[in-house]
Amino acid sequence: MNYLIGIDLGTSATKTVLFDEECRVIASASQEYPMSQPQNGWAEQDPLHWKEAAFSTIRGVIQSSGIDPADIRGIGLSGQMHGLVMLDQQNQVIRPAILWCDQRTGKECEEITRRVGYERLLQITANPALTGFTASKILWVRNHEPENYARCRHILLPKDYVRYLLTGVFATEVSDASGMQLLDVPNRCWSQEVLKALEIDEEWLAKVYESPEITGTVTREAAEATGLLPGTPVVGGAGDNAAAAVGTGVVEDGKAFTTIGTSGVVYAHSSKISIDPKGRVHTFCCAVPGCWHVMGVTQGAGLSLKWFRDQFCQDYVERARQMGIDPYVLMDQDAAQVPVGSNRLLYLPYLMGERTPHLDPDCRGVFFGLSAIHTRQDMLRAVMEGVTHSLRDCYDILLEMDVHPEQMMACGGGGTSALWRQMLADLYGCQVATVSSKEGPALGVAILAGVGTGLFPSVEEACRKFIGTDRVCPPIPEHTRQYARYHEVYRGLYPALKDSFRQLQEL
Ligand code: XUL
Repeated sequence: MNYLIGIDLGTSATKTVLFDEECRVIASASQEYPMSQPQNGWAEQDPLHWKEAAFSTIRGVIQSSGIDPADIRGIGLSGQMHGLVMLDQQNQVIRPAILWCDQRTGKECEEITRRVGYERLLQITANPALTGFTASKILWVRNHEPENYARCRHILLPKDYVRYLLTGVFATEVSDASGMQLLDVPNRCWSQEVLKALEIDEEWLAKVYESPEITGTVTREAAEATGLLPGTPVVGGAGDNAAAAVGTGVVEDGKAFTTIGTSGVVYAHSSKISIDPKGRVHTFCCAVPGCWHVMGVTQGAGLSLKWFRDQFCQDYVERARQMGIDPYVLMDQDAAQVPVGSNRLLYLPYLMGERTPHLDPDCRGVFFGLSAIHTRQDMLRAVMEGVTHSLRDCYDILLEMDVHPEQMMACGGGGTSALWRQMLADLYGCQVATVSSKEGPALGVAILAGVGTGLFPSVEEACRKFIGTDRVCPPIPEHTRQYARYHEVYRGLYPALKDSFRQLQEL
């Protein structure tokens, strides 16, 4: 029997899953790590935590499954996108990684637009300058920490740092590289023009591959630390969203998914490149060679609910611990008791600024309409609804771009909640389905490893064979009507508050 490993380096934890050649889960292990927020709107992580988590979970799945590591045919890597890892001449980490949700780089985005030009940036990188993307983080280090910048010799994305630790090679792949704002997205290679305009040395960047290609093999040293066999191939893999697309079978035109993880994403596959002229949704290369995807991003999706849980729901956490279940299950049950609209309470999920559709690093979260009648339960439901309103904003832009998904899948932690899926179906006004496997990105990159090592003929064929639709949730027409009225109020709030967010930021 052949086996495949998928590693998903998320924002809250790294999850490693061992699959057999029929893509069935044989063993799974995950390890959490913290995110530090040294200032309002900043977000950093220590890459060494990723190393420990990746290595120990690989060791964990090999040991708990009892399989012979010689039967592991290949490894795929998926991970949180955009994060900046800088290494020095000795390949040591220079400073904590600056993450995708960090919002400190507003000024650097202006600098990028000035240097490259708005139109050219959109033509080449398929996106406007965004605080979440890596290029502005590189410039921030150059502008604020020149001593760190002077030591820099290598720039890597989070999962590609783990690849370096496993294989000793500096490599990346097109889907994740698209989020650096340095890639020529239509042509799938580094852009000389952008690199020159930003004065970034191409030597610092990793070699770019297509997602299923083999990028290197496990070194002796990494093998000793993980229990893998030296020489085990590691394929390109994909950024977490492109990886989730493969894991949910969204690899052909007409297919789309919504994921609710720390961030929320509405993602549609596209065999042709299409760019939003207003830059409100991202266009990136996807993990299917020669194809792209468009996606809208809600910065604080699961992050909002986790924030609410951590700040206000310690009793749920305690009760869930005693019952041996996940606190979100109890929170879900309580939110389900509250009617649509949370008794006239709205929540804007902008805890870490917002991308789609506002592209505004300065906006922040809001409860709107709070009254003395409201309870914590109303607020809890309002958080879930607010995230869904924001995802509806993303969905609307895809429709505006003439991307009309025929099938919408739900995935990520939030996608496991029946209540949240119903909200999505009601607010989109379309059916939302789930796939039978819950492994999303880890399964996606395991499939890529299977394709790259010749076990499967192509990404599309492997998805057709191994990914099956599970439950289908149709919209409830009465809810759709009610939510439409709330969504109108929701949409009016950001424009009304835009200037106040800025004023608050400048205090
Ligand atoms: C996508 C994005 C997030 C991260 C974190 O552009 O920033 O989805 O990949 O998971």
